[in-house]
Amino acid sequence: MIATMDGVLLAELKKLYSAEKQIAEALPRFVEAASTEELRDSLLSHGEESREHLARLEESFGTLGEDGDGAICVGMQGLLEEGLSALQRYDAGMLRDAALIAAALRVEHYELASYGAAIELARGLGHDEALALLEQTWAEEDLAEKKLGQIAIQVNAEAYVGRDDV
Ligand SMILES: [Fe+2]
Repeated sequence: MIATMDGVLLAELKKLYSAEKQIAEALPRFVEAASTEELRDSLLSHGEESREHLARLEESFGTLGEDGDGAICVGMQGLLEEGLSALQRYDAGMLRDAALIAAALRVEHYELASYGAAIELARGLGHDEALALLEQTWAEEDLAEKKLGQIAIQVNAEAYVGRDDV
């Protein structure tokens, strides 16, 4: 049983570590499925960022005298599986891109929520080094989410142009 708040923080960070690893692994398949250049670029840069996020988590574990192994983030597993299987229902193009953006936004929100929770725990426990690292990543996730939102507006607008029922 976990009996301390430090234990709760550690458990949350281990889940995040697993989530980031899964994202880094799955992203090439999402990139391959995307047609819009901006979407591909945004997914590619998120892949690079995910590796930095992993490095920051490793650094955070170091400041806590722990390591990141031992947890699997089942939530992220589900989001990625659901996202990838949804893509198979579309031919390459705007519709698939719209579905891809929806999946990517769900992943991003999950990450933001998880980092947000870990940030509050690290703040409460006075783990300042880990806190600074987590906040840095949170800010990048926030930016990535906003960029995805902008791409969604653009992709969806282009997809609507092709409709004959509007
Ligand atoms: Fe991330």
